[in-house]
Amino acid sequence: MTIAPTQHVPVMPAEVIHWLALRPGSTVVDCTLGGGGHTRLLAEQVGPDGLVIGIDRDPVAVERVAETLRGLPIKVVASNYSDLPEILEQLEIEAVDGILLDLGLSSDQLADPERGFSFESDGPLDLRFNTEEGKPAWKLIERLGAEDLADMIYAYGEERFSRRIARKIVEQRHANPIRTSRDLARLVRSCVPRAKGRAPIDPATRTFQALRIAVNEELKWLDVSLARLPGCLKVGGRIVAISFHSLEDRPVKTTFVQDQRLRVLTPKPLRPSDEEVQRNPRSRSAKLRAAERV
Ligand SMILES: C[S@@+](CC[C@H](N)C(=O)[O-])C[C@H]1O[C@@H](n2cnc3c(N)ncnc32)[C@H](O)[C@@H]1O
Repeated sequence: MTIAPTQHVPVMPAEVIHWLALRPGSTVVDCTLGGGGHTRLLAEQVGPDGLVIGIDRDPVAVERVAETLRGLPIKVVASNYSDLPEILEQLEIEAVDGILLDLGLSSDQLADPERGFSFESDGPLDLRFNTEEGKPAWKLIERLGAEDLADMIYAYGEERFSRRIARKIVEQRHANPIRTSRDLARLVRSCVPRAKGRAPIDPATRTFQALRIAVNEELKWLDVSLARLPGCLKVGGRIVAISFHSLEDRPVKTTFVQDQRLRVLTPKPLRPSDEEVQRNPRSRSAKLRAAERV
C-alpha cells in the first residue's frame, strides 16, 4: 500500500519547542506522531546524540513517519500512548526529559475518505484511529438505543440537540441505514439549526466529535495516561499537552494542578497567535499547557 504524504501542519510549534526546553542529547516522547511535524522539530532539538520516541495508535501514521523521517534519531512505535511505561521498559529507558501530547485527529486522517472523519466523505462512517481495534462508528449507531445515543452525543459532543438527533437516527435507521459520513452529516443537519456568525461550525461537528471520542475511548485513554505519564519523566523533565476542546483540556488542567509530581508552568493555557490561526485554521481552538516534574 502506498501512503499519501502528510498534509498535517503542526500546531503551536514554537511554543512546543519553548516549553519542552530540550537540549542536545535529550530523550523525548512524542505521544501523538500524526504526520510527524512535531517529531521532526523535536529531533532537530535533541540532535544525533538524543532520541525521539514517537507513538501513534494509527499504524498508517506510524508507517508514514518511519518512511519520511528515516535517518533522524527517532524510534517509532504503533501503540496507545497509555502504554508509555511499558514501551520505555522495553527500550531500557528509565525516564525521559520531555513528553508531548497533541490530542485529537490529524489532517491526514481527516483527508482519508476510507476513515469517515470528513462530513462529506462517501466512505464508511468508521472514525477509528486504528481500524483493527474496536468497532466502527456505523455499528455503534446501529446498535445503541435512542437514550444511550442521546447521552453519548450530549456527553462527548456537548450537543444541545442530542435527543432530537438520537430520535431521528433511531426512526430512520431501519428504512435508511446510516453507513457513510455523508448519511450522518445530512441527518444531523436536518435536526440542528445552522449556527450564526462569521465562521459558523458545521452543525454535524459536535455529533462527529462525540462518536469519534466514543469509538476510540479517547477520554478513558487520556485519563489513564495522565495518571501514568508523569511517572515517566526525569525530575526537571517537562510535559506539554495541546487540546482542542474542553473535554480534553479539563482533565489536562486538573492533572497538572493536582498531581503532586508536577509543577504547573503555564497558569493560563497558551493560545495560537492570530497569524498562526490565519495560516493554519485547524489551530484555532488549540490550548497548550505545560508542567514540570518535581
Ligand atoms: C493531532 S494528531 C498529531 C499531529 C502531530 N503532532 C503532527 O505534528 O503531525 C493526533 C494523533 O494522535 C493519535 N492518537 C490519538 N489518540 C491516541 C492514543 N491514545 N495513543 C496514541 N496515539 C493516539 C491519532 O491517531 C493522531 O494521529
